[in-house]
Amino acid sequence: MTRRLTAAVLLAAACSRSTPGNVTLNRWKAADQEPGQWMSLGRTWKADRFSPLTKISDANAGQLGFAWEYEARSHRGRVEHGQESTPIVVDGVLYASGPWGSVFAVDARTGKEKWRHDPDVDASYNRRACCDVVSRGLSVWGGKVYVATLDGFLKALDAGSGKELWRADTFMDRDSRFYTITGPPQVAGKVVVIGNSGAEFGVRGYITAYDLETGKQAWRFFTVPGDPAKGPPENDAMKVAAKTWGPKTDWESGLGGTVWGEMTYDPDLNLLYVGTGNSTPYSGWNRDPSRGDNLYLVSILAINPDDGQMKWHYQEVPWELWDFTATANMILADLTIDGKPRKVIMQAPKDGIYYVLDRVTGQFISGKPFVFVTWTDGIDSMGRAHVSETAVYQKKPAIVFPTEAGAHNWQPMAFNPKTGLTYIPAREQGMVIADVPGYKWTKGRDNVGSAGMLGFILDLVGPADRKLFDDTFKANPKMPSPATKEVLIAWDPATQKEKWRVPTGNGDWAGGGVLTTAGNLVIQGTSSGHLIVYRADSGEKLQDITVGTAIMAAPISYEIEGEQYVAVLAGFGGAVAPVYPKEMAGYTWQNYGRILAFKLGGAKTPLPPLRSPQHTPEPPSLAFYSDTLAAQGEGIFLGTCGVCHGARGEARLSAYPDLHRLTPETHAAFDSIVLGGKLKTSGMSSFGDVLKPADVQAIHAYLLREQRTLWQEEQSKR
Ligand code: HEC
Repeated sequence: MTRRLTAAVLLAAACSRSTPGNVTLNRWKAADQEPGQWMSLGRTWKADRFSPLTKISDANAGQLGFAWEYEARSHRGRVEHGQESTPIVVDGVLYASGPWGSVFAVDARTGKEKWRHDPDVDASYNRRACCDVVSRGLSVWGGKVYVATLDGFLKALDAGSGKELWRADTFMDRDSRFYTITGPPQVAGKVVVIGNSGAEFGVRGYITAYDLETGKQAWRFFTVPGDPAKGPPENDAMKVAAKTWGPKTDWESGLGGTVWGEMTYDPDLNLLYVGTGNSTPYSGWNRDPSRGDNLYLVSILAINPDDGQMKWHYQEVPWELWDFTATANMILADLTIDGKPRKVIMQAPKDGIYYVLDRVTGQFISGKPFVFVTWTDGIDSMGRAHVSETAVYQKKPAIVFPTEAGAHNWQPMAFNPKTGLTYIPAREQGMVIADVPGYKWTKGRDNVGSAGMLGFILDLVGPADRKLFDDTFKANPKMPSPATKEVLIAWDPATQKEKWRVPTGNGDWAGGGVLTTAGNLVIQGTSSGHLIVYRADSGEKLQDITVGTAIMAAPISYEIEGEQYVAVLAGFGGAVAPVYPKEMAGYTWQNYGRILAFKLGGAKTPLPPLRSPQHTPEPPSLAFYSDTLAAQGEGIFLGTCGVCHGARGEARLSAYPDLHRLTPETHAAFDSIVLGGKLKTSGMSSFGDVLKPADVQAIHAYLLREQRTLWQEEQSKR
């Protein structure tokens, strides 16, 4: 009996291997018995991004070198978009998603392509994305690859061939609301669940579950209530939430709360954990003057995936005002806290507090700042944060730490059960934030401007805001300098104390996602184009590989035929694509997406070609030009074009074409591009729905003025 059973089990295991991408619940739950695989974004269901492999260790990390690369070629037109996803490795094949929801499947030993999927995404959806057309990952399950496209389709692909098996349209209000998808799907029980993005543009956040086999919709769960005039709350969770929004709520703006980060699933408790985002607009008095908590913005929700009902919720930031979100990655762990074993869920989101919750009940265990924080006066024993009046910018601008970019954003953190430490890619940074008087939600537009984010790059703030910063620093000696400092922090979640920190650079998103291993390692890429290996217990730097491509995504580790590899997606983009500071790899080298793999005794990493210096053509003299018009155009440019093409002309280098250096032909075609949609298939849509011809002329005048200044500067240097 026993022998026959063993044979049957072996046979089943062999079968499961011969089907590509055959992750099953049993295999996933026993992931530590197959330490050479990386079967989900966080590797196991605990999503701690910890590899038990030890061949690469603190004893030999100095020998880590290049093994192979795969060029992602994921651009449309001229713009190369950011790579934010974590790869998955199952039975020798590496799967990763890229911009627009593309998928690459390559031999994990050589990088040789097995298949790729380039979805037929409507490129005009670029304009609907706040932060580039990225994808943060896919799921591999039961022989299928699940991925979502920017324009809202969840797809199941055959893991062996890449052939599309089914697709589901996950958007409601496709025509009237600017939804996009940049987050990864999560398999939970019999369903695969997907969220969406678009809070800045005014959407109502939700997640939807689909049958793994057929793609048939199983349930949908909204994260914020809908307009009561249009119908009663959909479920008990919405009844509770509706009470936290006042009678004057601006329902038309959708309210946001989108789920655009990684979800996690505990198969033992059968709970799906979901982190929700910010609202539209950031300035809370403009969306709900009652100052309600506004559930379920910035919350962790535990959902039963069988029926889509909420079991518990925990709100991190009541009445959110600063673009804080609970969308950072969540890690499940079993910790001993105050002598008691606890099943916890941990998150270190944008607001700068490290949260530890009981994942069975949602009960708050602890929350401590891991960077300098001023938005809250403290969290009470029930876990409720008290908003600091000094951070409310309704009547006058306020200085707030951390910033809208987040103390820790989507770049995944990792937890090492051997050191007991979480490694957080963090940012010490403050901002000046101000209300924009007369704000009104406008359809089809990015409504961030409502809050007037002024301080996040200090060079860009005006003298008044600079003075506010300076005065505040004088009055508060404990406050860190306003310049961005990016750090990798090793944090003990059981005691809520920092163990070590190392600087990772200055500038936004200098440090990418994190991997930790049983070889006592922490591995992180940087936007300056390095892959850096640290000792997990001390933070000592062990290896620094120059790759020449910015890395934002998190590395993984896997083993094939006795060789341990580290792999990561490289390629810059995302919310900071409009500006390349000098420190960034894209300033020196051409930026393009690639998967890079490393092994012991590997070679030198091939660097991308150097970026060629830019020249400014002489701008034409156009009859409509006037200085007054140029002055008018500056504001319209910043509010409408800067999000991609770079703000205030500071961004002389960027992933997007530099509009301050247009050729005479482009000047001639300006209106047909901006109003006529001439370049729409490359992601430059028409703005005819929000701009009048006179606005476009004003923008054009502003750009002509800037180009003339640049051109004259260059001439004088000759
Ligand atoms: C969502 C991102 C996005 C926004 C916002 C955006 N653009 Fe673009 N734009 C692009 C992309 C992508 C391209 C390059 C298309 C290609 O590869 O041909 C581009 C190209 C252009 C070009 C051609 C440049 C050249 O050198 O060939 C012009 C002109 C232009 N944009 C003007 C504007 C103006 C004016 C605005 C604001 C009203 C604007 N864009 C807003 C994405 C954007």
